[in-house]
Amino acid sequence: MTDLVVVGAGLFGLTVAERMAAAGRHVTVVDRRDHIGGNAYSETDAATGIEVHRYGAHLFHTSNARVWEYVNRFTAFTDYTHRVFTTHRGEVFPMPINLGTINQFFRSALGPDAARALIAQQAAEMAGRTPANLDEQGVSLIGRPLYEAFIRGYTAKQWQTDPRELPASIISRLPVRYSYDSRYFSDTWEGLPVDGYTAWFERMIDHPRIEVRLGEDFLDDGAEVSRASTRGRVPVVFTGPVDRYFGYAEGDLAWRTIDFEWETLPVGDFQGTSVMNYADEDVPFTRIHEFRHFHPERTYPADRTVIAREFSRAAVRGDEPYYPVNTPLDRERLEAYRALAASEPDVHFGGRLGTYQYLDMHMAIASALSMVDNVLSR
Ligand code: FAD
Ligand code: NA
Repeated sequence: MTDLVVVGAGLFGLTVAERMAAAGRHVTVVDRRDHIGGNAYSETDAATGIEVHRYGAHLFHTSNARVWEYVNRFTAFTDYTHRVFTTHRGEVFPMPINLGTINQFFRSALGPDAARALIAQQAAEMAGRTPANLDEQGVSLIGRPLYEAFIRGYTAKQWQTDPRELPASIISRLPVRYSYDSRYFSDTWEGLPVDGYTAWFERMIDHPRIEVRLGEDFLDDGAEVSRASTRGRVPVVFTGPVDRYFGYAEGDLAWRTIDFEWETLPVGDFQGTSVMNYADEDVPFTRIHEFRHFHPERTYPADRTVIAREFSRAAVRGDEPYYPVNTPLDRERLEAYRALAASEPDVHFGGRLGTYQYLDMHMAIASALSMVDNVLSR
């Protein structure tokens, strides 16, 4: 007999399972997919040997010492440092916007204070007015020239909506660095798992008290481990979509999804870097990932490379939910689902789908550790 059922083998579920097994419990993990790891899953492309991230590129980063110590029990990390570039009107700029971006864009040689003054002067166009939409918000934060070059088109593509029709609240800040630091993340630690994500995740569940069942949907009442078979018998940690758990009784929570267009090219290096954004609206995709660049320390083929173009759109049921849209209506529905969840004391909702929030990997792990401490171990 199992002591705990964990629905979802993503980082939230894996962390709960690992900790509870270490504490002596028997844990059953079920996932409807045919692999563990959730959206952070990666696999080796058979034709090239290149590690590819099936649900979008994943870079590990954290400033949380407890999480960093925890993940290092299962994997070492490379010294990969993530950097992003963006193509705008046939020219490549470093992102996020920094002194290098500013001086290249304005063909200037400004120091930090002069650049700050320039952006403040350009943003003053909105002075004294409350931004009525995302467009005005962007201008008020970084001025019109930089906003229109680097943010407007990209955001329009992400939301498939003209930013004049989007609420100002989508962007609360636009980071501008008044230095040449072009590191994408500013966390204390970052890197990629030395022998891949899957090896890391397999070590987490390599325990005699953990049973993993793949290809099984917990919400399929015919499944051996299901809502019907566990109710009233064993506690459950549910990391699937909370609206689906309750049969969408309070309405669908809105998500954005990404369509990936994969291509293997007969060249050793397509773009010279792992991520190239495309800022302009006349390019239909938002960015291109080239996976070989995540592991420059590995020996990969010199004549082939794997890329993925990303297209963003609103998700419908059946799509992979990636980013919560989080409108006022969504927040209202989420409150209603939270009330329903509270009426099921033996089912604990966690992770990005169970709580309807974007979580980086380190946040999913931290949140799982605190569920173990504060709820499951008591
Ligand atoms: P998930 O990984 O989604 O796992 C949930 C699991 O539950 C899934 O495997 C699903 O199949 C399973 N499931 C759902 N319903 C059921 C059911 N009814 N029955 C059985 N199983 C079910 N984070 C970073 O730190 N760095 C990054 O660079 C990064 N890049 C990202 C890029 C994209 C495009 C996206 C969408 C996310 C990215 N993230 C990144 C976030 C990262 O993916 C999440 O932190 C992580 O997935 C959260 O883990 P989770 O366990 O909450 O959810
Ligand atoms: Na509950």
